[in-house]
Amino acid sequence: MRLNQCHNFQDFRTLAQKRLPSPIFNYIDGAADDEVTYRHNTEAFDRCDLVPNVLTGVEDIDMSVTVMGQKLDMPIYCSPTALQRLFHHDGELAVAAAADKFGTMFGVSSLGTTSIAEVRKKFKSPQVYQFYFHKDRGLNKAMIESAKEAGVDVMMLTVDSITGGNRERDLRTGFSIPFRLTLGGLVQFAIKPMWGINYVTHESFKLPQLDEHVDMSGGAISIGKYFTEMLDPSMTWDDVAKMVKLWDGQFCLKGIMSVEDAKKAVDIGCTGIILSNHGGRQLDGSRSPFDQLAEIVDAVGDKIDVIMDSGIQRGTHVLKALSLGAKAVGGGRFYLFPLAAAGQPGVERALTLMRAEIERGMKLMGCSSVDQLSRSNLRFR
Ligand code: LAC
Repeated sequence: MRLNQCHNFQDFRTLAQKRLPSPIFNYIDGAADDEVTYRHNTEAFDRCDLVPNVLTGVEDIDMSVTVMGQKLDMPIYCSPTALQRLFHHDGELAVAAAADKFGTMFGVSSLGTTSIAEVRKKFKSPQVYQFYFHKDRGLNKAMIESAKEAGVDVMMLTVDSITGGNRERDLRTGFSIPFRLTLGGLVQFAIKPMWGINYVTHESFKLPQLDEHVDMSGGAISIGKYFTEMLDPSMTWDDVAKMVKLWDGQFCLKGIMSVEDAKKAVDIGCTGIILSNHGGRQLDGSRSPFDQLAEIVDAVGDKIDVIMDSGIQRGTHVLKALSLGAKAVGGGRFYLFPLAAAGQPGVERALTLMRAEIERGMKLMGCSSVDQLSRSNLRFR
């Protein structure tokens, strides 16, 4: 299979699986426990039907949205995800370049493999900094300051990862960062030689956001260990309120699921919340963000930008979320498999297909701009 034969999420996933050593593919593809939530996230969209209107004059489609003060040419953005240079040697730079071409937002993670400042210098599109709250308060402060200095547009604090999710695929493969060539790893290296050659011939792996603060002298740490040992489980709303003040700009919380928490986010001055269960990678059995969206929009939608991620694979998924009241949606695997499959051209192809699906869907629904999408376009079964 080649890139131009990829027409949807599953095609990109298949090609990524061909290209990546299995521990890395399974890190992206895997989720927590029985992966029930991972499956439900996408299935949730199937319980909701679109009700189109016709003959409305839909020659020109405007799918742009404004969210947290950022104007996006399309309503889906590339959520920040960790370790991108493990998936493709161009990593974050490939994703940012593609997002920039499509006029949408992208994120760089605390566990990103390219520095936020380097990405910011090269691309103009709105940039999110995904932030983890560490036990080391000095590290948190330094990270906020460097994000300010770099000119990051939106601070995104992830609040659903106070401890590591139980990713059993990673336990089985021994996945760790940087990728360690254990015996199993060596076998993978041998059967996926292109990935291995690219990995060793490009800039060496690092985590520039954390640099001096993560001790990798032992060779490697696991994601679970990073969450559990370095992140601060005592973090409370008071700590976040202080951070919001310190940042003094666009600030959102990723991983809000309850109405109570959505209201608290409003109270402490956040400008956005992202309904998310981390793509099913943290608390298995948690509700899908799409199922929870209406309740949250009804409670706080007039006070804060409500966004959702987790499970989005199709343009119609985006349209269903927008019709329920989301201001925009984020996606992770939807661009990570294409990145792994083919680097920047892969991500561009995924965005091209997604944009075409959204445009076609809007036309078929009789909506020429996003503000025309409403709950009257939806029926739940
Ligand atoms: C994960 C973290 C790092 O889901 O976001 O693996």
